[in-house]
Amino acid sequence: MDYDFSNKVVLVTGASAGIGEAIALLFAKLGAKLSLVGRNEANLRAVAAECEKQKGVKPLAIVADLGTNEGVEKTAKDTLEHFGRLDILVNNAAIGVFTWLLHETDMQMFDDVFRINVRGVYYLTKLLAPALVETKGNIVNISSIVATMVSVGSLPYGMTKAALDHFTRLISLELAPKGVRVNTVSPGVTVSEFVKRITGQSEEEYRAWLASFSHKIPLGEPCVGADIARMVVHLASDHSRLVTGTVIEVDGGYRFNNSVHTPALDK
Ligand SMILES: NC(=O)c1ccc[n+]([C@@H]2O[C@H](COP(=O)([O-])OP(=O)(O)OC[C@H]3O[C@@H](n4cnc5c(N)ncnc54)[C@H](OP(=O)(O)O)[C@@H]3O)[C@@H](O)[C@H]2O)c1
Repeated sequence: MDYDFSNKVVLVTGASAGIGEAIALLFAKLGAKLSLVGRNEANLRAVAAECEKQKGVKPLAIVADLGTNEGVEKTAKDTLEHFGRLDILVNNAAIGVFTWLLHETDMQMFDDVFRINVRGVYYLTKLLAPALVETKGNIVNISSIVATMVSVGSLPYGMTKAALDHFTRLISLELAPKGVRVNTVSPGVTVSEFVKRITGQSEEEYRAWLASFSHKIPLGEPCVGADIARMVVHLASDHSRLVTGTVIEVDGGYRFNNSVHTPALDK
């Protein structure tokens, strides 16, 4: 199967690291014109430079905090002003938190995770939906298997991803008559800085955790960003022309593991 995005404008949020970086790189290899968003300017520019090397197409790099109205508005405005259109929106940016009900945390953590993972996605999608209707484009949201798997410590992050999954279903129905598809890719454990940042693990502890954990994944190994990126590209392509409102897990079958294991509880 061939994938060609050379006439497509693709916006990837959270492109400065991890899964978003892998998604950006794969779209760049397939010729897309990219709008890339993140807060860390140095990382974002490094990813943009790497993308440009693939097919010589220079991405637009937008430094913005998608947890703020200004950041979301800047992202939408700059993208449309620069390219004059949008074909594919990948809502990937998110933060994780590691907490539970009896853990001593204030409501700031709750507000932050909902502000970025839910409100930011909702507002950016709302601003860009008219442009996607014009191009009969599509949206891919990046969720998580903790939207449906229950594990101590994924509160309230798991709630944000459950909201995102339902957001996908709700807007897929609204936008289908306009020719716009909306889907979600739901990663399982995926190698990035994400878990380390939440749990405070060192690189060594993280690698040991990944190794000890892999036997709980039916296919025997965690995902890497490229595994998620390939599914995103497939859903965003015309090969998925009649696919909408779906949530597709890319997790090596991990969702069938009923363990309540969480890394920081091992410490
Ligand atoms: N890694 C996993 O095991 C895993 C599993 C399931 C689902 N996921 C999901 O996969 C997606 C990507 O995760 P990842 O593992 O790649 O995490 P990551 O390495 O921490 O990357 C997160 C990305 O989101 C960006 N971001 C975070 N908050 C932002 C904000 N307020 N405004 C703009 N950009 C923001 C970060 O940019 P800056 O650093 O530049 O701000 C970074 O580019 C997330 O939706 C996550 O929930 C990850």
